[in-house]
Amino acid sequence: MRKRMIAGNWKMNKTYAEAVTLAQDLSVALKENPADSVDVVVCPPMVDLKGVAGVREFDNAPFEVGAQNVYWEASGAYTGETSCDMLTAVGATYCIIGHSERRGYFGETDEDINKKAKALMAAGIVPISCCGEPLEVREAGTHVEFVVDQIKKDTEGLEITDPSKYVIAYEPIWAIGTGKTATAEDAQEVCGAIRKTLVEIFGQETADGIRVLYGGSAKPENVAGFLDKEDVDGARVGGASLVADSFNAMIQKAAE
Ligand code: PGA
Repeated sequence: MRKRMIAGNWKMNKTYAEAVTLAQDLSVALKENPADSVDVVVCPPMVDLKGVAGVREFDNAPFEVGAQNVYWEASGAYTGETSCDMLTAVGATYCIIGHSERRGYFGETDEDINKKAKALMAAGIVPISCCGEPLEVREAGTHVEFVVDQIKKDTEGLEITDPSKYVIAYEPIWAIGTGKTATAEDAQEVCGAIRKTLVEIFGQETADGIRVLYGGSAKPENVAGFLDKEDVDGARVGGASLVADSFNAMIQKAAE
């Protein structure tokens, strides 16, 4: 019912030429081993978007291209920011919002994330909206409440007509880039609570169509365990998405 998704977040890695090469390598790998049952998304840095989207177009490569951030205003005096229309114009069809690195280092709030989601959806770009608890919250045992609260704030007032066009990524902060993964059971506990919250907000049918991804040191060796879980519909991948072979290995596991 929900199509699995593997989404790569390249973060602040890859110059333009390196990004194009990685996109080409991924395109070749996916053509050799088609994984049509999986939605594949790559999210390069802003300045690499056009090059990666160009590979997609030229090669007819089986992946979509996403940005890692956006600003909700349409245009104007917002130095350093990028609008939804600008993303569309260079071929981005997805956009990560609310990554814990943006929340933590750049002060992004749930209110900002909510505005970004609304702007993206109005522009026809699919948000991949992130949530997840820090270590001290996990240790205090209040992680479910913490994430449910984020979901309520981040989705406030959203109108979701096509649930396949709004994606959530649960990424416990203590597991991001640390090599420490949550167990598949940890992921299911929170992703299940997210689904329940979505049912309360949007109703069963819509909630059943929204993909919830797990992220945080996901790699070829552990991805299958997460994907086996009822409410985990895919993975958001940082480090392991920077090499075509490991990213493709995860896509192939998701296609099994
Ligand atoms: P990681 O990053 O896979 O390197 O832990 C995940 C993410 O932040 O998207």
